[in-house]
Amino acid sequence: MIDLRTEYLGLKLDNPMVPSSSPLTRELDTVKQLEDAGASAVILPSLFEEAVEKEQKQLERYVHFQALGHYEAESYQPMPEDYSSELDNYLEHITEVKKHIDIPVIASLNGISRTGWIEYGKEMQEAGADALELNVYYIATDPRKSSEDIEALYLELLSDLLSHVSIPVAMKLSSQFSSLPNMVQKLQQAGAQGVVLFNRFYQPDINLETLEINPELQLSDPSEALLRIRWIALLRNWTQMSIAATGGLHHADEILKALLAGADVTYLCSVLLQKGPAYLSTLKEQIIAWMEEKEYESVVQMKGSVSQACAIDPSAYEHSNYYLALSNYRSKMNNA
Ligand SMILES: Cc1cc2nc3c(=O)[nH]c(=O)nc-3n(C[C@H](O)[C@H](O)[C@H](O)COP(=O)(O)O)c2cc1C
Repeated sequence: MIDLRTEYLGLKLDNPMVPSSSPLTRELDTVKQLEDAGASAVILPSLFEEAVEKEQKQLERYVHFQALGHYEAESYQPMPEDYSSELDNYLEHITEVKKHIDIPVIASLNGISRTGWIEYGKEMQEAGADALELNVYYIATDPRKSSEDIEALYLELLSDLLSHVSIPVAMKLSSQFSSLPNMVQKLQQAGAQGVVLFNRFYQPDINLETLEINPELQLSDPSEALLRIRWIALLRNWTQMSIAATGGLHHADEILKALLAGADVTYLCSVLLQKGPAYLSTLKEQIIAWMEEKEYESVVQMKGSVSQACAIDPSAYEHSNYYLALSNYRSKMNNA
């Protein structure tokens, strides 16, 4: 009997398959389907700083017009009677999900500025979240800001959040740091219990007809997994934090490779949006079949067994292979 259990952020999980933030974890019904199909935990969609700020501005306007008595003002929009805020809705979702499922529930905060929104982490904890994910979706566009400035921002946000909560916190990161191992080490020192590698940045596209810029959300494809697998393999022996792999995990193959590289859990999003929650049980069967064939007894035994420190050729994860990869391509062409 293969033992699929793993541990993530101190949470004991039945297996490493975790549906990540997406519309599937926004609805209680689909969360239940995910649990039934074998999810070991769920990450709820993020509470967005942007949405919270927008709402706060609306509220301020409302209070302002109330005070002036300008009910007829053109831009005045009455608040609906049954109004509940983004935060209220989010907290209610945590409570509902916790009431109906047995697996751990991880809430998520998305934003960058050091304003009051980060305090919402405390309310998420009180609503029952087992852990928090801090998703800093940040594109550095200001040339006056150095990489140190940006890293400091991440660390300050993390410290702020940690000062409000006692549940574990993981940081969802982009791959774009000058020295990712250094950044990961700083996050560990600052108290993070896990890193989620990597955020996907959605690329705006130019519409050639209208010349407008459209935000394009495209689902991932499996080729994106290799970047994650490489970095997890490189980082595994440098950090004691939990590592989650996210991005391009579509088949049992990518999930197995991420675990072999050293991930504690594997997040699934695009593939579940395409194939539905039930696909988790197919993935589970395929993972077990491969482990049986290769005589692995447990996920714990398998985790990190092909990380850089354990790989047959550790340099294969590093630059030294760049030249070899290019040369091999040339020699393949010559032999064709
Ligand atoms: C429609 C959609 C909504 C998402 N919403 C969130 C979100 O609210 N917060 C977040 O951190 N990531 C969000 N993500 C990112 C996913 O959780 C995941 O990290 C990313 O898509 C990479 O995994 P994949 O290749 O399995 O899709 C979203 C992705 C999609 C496609």
